[in-house]
Amino acid sequence: MKNFTCVNDIGNLDVAIKEALEIKADRYRYDTLGKNKTAMLVFFNSSLRTRLSTQKAALNLGMNVIVLDINQGAWKLETERGVIMDGDRPEHILEAIPVMGSYCDIIGVRSFARFENKADDYNEVILNQFIRHSGRPVFSMEAATRHPLQSFADLITIEEHKTVKRPKVVLTWAPHPKALPQAVPNSFAEWMNAAEYDFVITHPEGYELDPSFVGNAHVEYDQMKAFEGADFIYAKNWSAYTGDNYGKVLSTDRNWTVSERQMAVTNNAYFMHCLPVRRNMIVTDDVIEGPRSLVIPEAANREISATVVLKRLLESL
Ligand code: CP
Repeated sequence: MKNFTCVNDIGNLDVAIKEALEIKADRYRYDTLGKNKTAMLVFFNSSLRTRLSTQKAALNLGMNVIVLDINQGAWKLETERGVIMDGDRPEHILEAIPVMGSYCDIIGVRSFARFENKADDYNEVILNQFIRHSGRPVFSMEAATRHPLQSFADLITIEEHKTVKRPKVVLTWAPHPKALPQAVPNSFAEWMNAAEYDFVITHPEGYELDPSFVGNAHVEYDQMKAFEGADFIYAKNWSAYTGDNYGKVLSTDRNWTVSERQMAVTNNAYFMHCLPVRRNMIVTDDVIEGPRSLVIPEAANREISATVVLKRLLESL
């Protein structure tokens, strides 16, 4: 694997899941693979799970780790080419990236959608500059349009808990006070479609996702109808994608907050969320604390997905 930015990079999903479960059973099995290799984790945005689980994964493989928070202690980076740099950004990303590449063997990047320019976000201009200019394999730690380490962990979690080959998985929009990117729902949809589950997306009108991620998923605007018979409920907020509404909050309707009312019509579904989650906006206390909540094992599987991805990148060096 040269880079890891989307589901296609992981190849056959059955093979990847088998490898993940083997690593989970013996997570230090490859603890010399990364000897004298350095992972650099570059964060343009905040993180708890990704920061910790990816460092842990690198340590599982015997790697050294450097973490750089771009907005805390590094020079502010100019990202546009052709700009006269007379403002508050003293370093250009086109020098910074190859310099970072010179200190490591593999680079992870977190760079969210900025909502300034939809084309820039959906063309992944920051992530792609790392791929183009770092000279190193690059993996996404959540970019503007996808969060593949999260989706891989979600897939592992569903595979561990499903009782039928093709479970019904429902991705539901839920309210949030701030404008959030579409990366998690896009990516989740991409991985659920690749897994060929019975996959349904439900959201209020106006929150349609990019059709290239929705694929063949069934879109249902009636949340209660979507939840009927579901085996897994995956809640997430996202801001609008379509047209001039890109990046806007169109609704904070708490009728969409996942509660026992909706869970009652499911097939005793498991509840999932990538975290961090705003309680009683996205999901009620009762559901997230209930016996069918998978949010903690799901987060724990981030270590496993990251270990598989770093292992494969190391094997390709
Ligand atoms: N789910 C996730 O990526 O969490 P962090 O934003 O805390 O890394």
